[in-house]
This record gives sequence, structure tokens and C-alpha cells, in this order.
Amino acid sequence: MDHRSGPDRAAVVLAFCLALTVPAACQTAPPSAVPSADSRESITLTGEELAHLRAGMRTYLEATHAITDALARNKLRQAVDKAREAGTQSMQGTSLAVAATLPPAFTLLALDTHQKFDALAQAASGAATRADIQQQLSDILANCTACHATYRVAHR
Ligand code: HEC
Repeated sequence: MDHRSGPDRAAVVLAFCLALTVPAACQTAPPSAVPSADSRESITLTGEELAHLRAGMRTYLEATHAITDALARNKLRQAVDKAREAGTQSMQGTSLAVAATLPPAFTLLALDTHQKFDALAQAASGAATRADIQQQLSDILANCTACHATYRVAHR
């Protein structure tokens, strides 16, 4: 599944981490005073970090739309550019201090999702069938669903 070499992968993790900017102090921020029925694990971000996260999410959604549209039209190559935009290249501009403060499983899920978009872009630019791309998209959506079911953001 992971076509990257070890050093490349390490570089990607580092780049991701470098793009995050939450100080370690965030970890000890008091929880929201309002009790919530939402039992998901809370991650704490500043407004700027949250805006960055949300922008990345909208890139994911746009890519998902482009892939679905390409599948419907059977024009797989039309999905390549948008899928790449949601890939590991979109982790540039994120910072290292933050990743250290986030739950490791959250960071790994984010990294895996970006890598799955890279893999889909690669497949769609090659000889992949619609069924191949549909399966890859399904695997990506499983990541979206898993993360959203597990985490929420506490704004500070
Ligand atoms: C590693 C965790 C993680 C993954 C993977 C993930 N998300 Fe999210 N996403 C979040 C969190 C956390 C929020 C909530 C941010 C907030 O509170 O506004 C969010 C919010 C969003 C939003 C709302 C953006 C906005 O402008 O308010 C969209 C759309 C979204 N995600 C789409 C997706 C899609 C599509 C995928 C898969 C391709 C995906 N997400 C994968 C964590 C994740």
C-alpha cells in the first residue's frame, strides 16, 4: 500500500509536523465549560490552526467530488489533478510542533489519507479500472468516516 521509501516517508512526516503550530501548552488547556453530549475525543486548536484544518478538509471534499464525477463519466484521468491536490503535497505549509501535540492516531490517519489520495492519483493516471478507483475511494471515505466519528475540535 505504501509505495514510499522509508526516508521519503520520514520527510513527509516531518513536513507535516513542521506545518503545525500548536504550542505544547494547548494540551493542558481547560476543557470547555459547557458539558457536551458529544463523546468524541477533543483536539484543541487555535483559530488559525482550525481554519487551516478546515481548508484542508474542503480540499478533501473537492477531490472526492472530482473523483466521483470522473467515475460517473468514466474519465478517470479527470480525477488526477484534484486527487493530487489532496495528497501529501497539501501537507506543505503545516508545522511540526503541532503534530507532537495531536493524538498520534489522528496524525497517522491524516497522513494515511493524504497518501491514499496520492495512490489514487497515480492509479487514475495509469491503467486502473473504474472498480479499482471505486475501491480506493471507498478506502479513503472509510478514513474520513473513522476520523470524524472519533475526533472533534475544541476551539480555543
Ligand atoms: C485525521 C482526521 C480527519 C480525516 C481523515 C478527515 N477529516 Fe474532515 N474533519 C476533521 C475534523 C476534526 C473536522 C472538524 C473541524 C471543525 O470542528 O470545524 C473536520 C471537518 C470536515 C469538514 C468541514 C470543513 C469546514 O469548512 O467546516 C469537511 C467538509 C470534511 N471534514 C471533509 C472530509 C473528507 C471528505 C474527508 C476524507 C476525504 C475527511 N474530512 C477526512 C478531521 C478529519
